[in-house]
Amino acid sequence: MFDPERLRQRREDIARRWRDLRGPVVVPSGLLVPIAGTDQFHDYHAHNEHYYLSGNDQPGSVVAYDPREGWTLFAPVASQEDRVWIGDSIDFETLRERSGIEQVRPIAALSGWLEQRRGEPLALLGNPDLVGNPGGYGLENWAALEVEVDDEVSHRLSEAISEARRTKDEGELALMRQAAAASREGHLAGLRLARPGMTERQLQVEIEVEFFRNGAARTAYGSIVGTGPNGAVLHFAPTNRPLQDGDIVLVDAGAEIGGYASDVTRTFPVAPRFDGFQRDLYQLVLNVQEQAIRDARPGKEYKELHLEASAGIAAGLADLGILRGRPADLVERDAHALFFPHGLGHMLGLATHDAGGCLAGRTPSDRFGLKWLRADLPLQPGYVVTIEPGIYFIRAILEDPAHREAFGEMVNWDRVDRLLDFGGIRIEDDILVTDGAAEVLSADIPKQIDEIEVLRQEAAAP
Ligand code: GLY
Ligand code: MN
Ligand code: MN
Repeated sequence: MFDPERLRQRREDIARRWRDLRGPVVVPSGLLVPIAGTDQFHDYHAHNEHYYLSGNDQPGSVVAYDPREGWTLFAPVASQEDRVWIGDSIDFETLRERSGIEQVRPIAALSGWLEQRRGEPLALLGNPDLVGNPGGYGLENWAALEVEVDDEVSHRLSEAISEARRTKDEGELALMRQAAAASREGHLAGLRLARPGMTERQLQVEIEVEFFRNGAARTAYGSIVGTGPNGAVLHFAPTNRPLQDGDIVLVDAGAEIGGYASDVTRTFPVAPRFDGFQRDLYQLVLNVQEQAIRDARPGKEYKELHLEASAGIAAGLADLGILRGRPADLVERDAHALFFPHGLGHMLGLATHDAGGCLAGRTPSDRFGLKWLRADLPLQPGYVVTIEPGIYFIRAILEDPAHREAFGEMVNWDRVDRLLDFGGIRIEDDILVTDGAAEVLSADIPKQIDEIEVLRQEAAAP
């Protein structure tokens, strides 16, 4: 829940950023999406732009803005049937108090509000289902309204919100700290409870139950739990595969509180200790991650951070005899991306991959070593980003004949062939950029080898 005064300031800030605007704006929250064959709905998440502006997360709502009149929240009124099956809607006085928006009106009034603005270019932000499913917002027929959505203006206004959302305020940071604290409890449970024979699914449940016990409203994203070779699938959905002695387990899971995400990855051995190669690789990823966190200072280009981390990984893999060549050359030719194909991380906030990761006008490169980089901007105090380097043995990449040819001499392929069932290692923390050293929101989730081994030995004790 946001402080209404902060929400007011936030809307004033947005209105200032939109000062050239002449026409109306609507920001729908999104609608419930039915699950076929049931009387229930898919997991619902209010559109982040709607939620950011209003603090309201009810489906079927619209935040509207008219530069001549200010803000209006159009809110749903539950029917008797809704009240029987789903529950009641929130009364308007409560919505007024929570959102700080004086004008709270029933969604049925949206149609008249739009008709009064017929012929004016309309900016449509938030969930575009307003056009495809107008009935869900009490509109009879979109075409009959004769309003024209201006895509160019809509995009510009949305970018302005994304810019504003990059810098987190104290209320947002408080929620992100709570989310990271709940994630800590879940990851600690995973580190303590993982046992040979337990399945990935069982481990997921043990982790998530602690998120929920510690205040999570949901998981911030589908938990990723991969053991052995499954750890090499970047977003692996847990299965019934049992954990096996000798495997490493990659757990990428985060709690969400008040709409704010945490996003944390820990990798650990099923055995009480890392074996020699696991240890070398883990320490390499950890060194690269810690260096990137130290270097995450205001003004630093996130892409530079990514390329420096890539050079660290290339150097380490060369030391381990997996890559061949000078790190700078290997990165220049994207050889690191055979093992570290994703970006160093992304913005974090109301979404796991939060808004505004790329500065307006910058587009992701299609270079093999950069195409999955989700952030391209200079860091500023108040930004929250993840730092999540990894090294994986991904068959889809490493068995590709085109890669074998393109990277021929740069890779020790015999060695790679023996490692194709290794899986992967990723270490991910959430950091707040400050004027000084970055604050690691997920700092007290163990990641040093000795800390992890203490927990794993406790887990193995009878
Ligand atoms: N948890 C997904 C990611 O790290 O991007
Ligand atoms: Mn993650
Ligand atoms: Mn992440």
